[in-house]
Amino acid sequence: MIGRLNHVAIVVPDLAAGTAVYRDTLGGTVSEPQALPEHGVTVVFVELPNTKIELLEVLGENSPVAPFLERNPSGGIHHVCYEVEDIITARDKLKSEGARVLGDGEPKTGAHGKPVLFLHPKDFCGTLVELEQV
Ligand code: CO
Repeated sequence: MIGRLNHVAIVVPDLAAGTAVYRDTLGGTVSEPQALPEHGVTVVFVELPNTKIELLEVLGENSPVAPFLERNPSGGIHHVCYEVEDIITARDKLKSEGARVLGDGEPKTGAHGKPVLFLHPKDFCGTLVELEQV
């Protein structure tokens, strides 16, 4: 069911500093910051030959990544995103097997303008999983 690794997301305390690490120290190509108020984050993407790294910074007061940053003040890996062909089919199959879908269970539009869902880390080896329909 899952396809390519679309991205690995890393929460950072300071997006400009994180961008400098990936652009200047590691020599990556980093996108312009994109504010996503409905997701409570500002993101940049690091384009790699085979996947992307998504750097996430807290945006606003009810950011879903704020508790993560409190537990991990220097930042850290937050989720992995796998591509699926049909997000509703994927969701229904996972739910039928007892997996928990976060939020109201309906796909939201993600940073790439495509439908995304998040799956409970306790059902997926301790890792928050994002599914993105491509
Ligand atoms: Co993501």
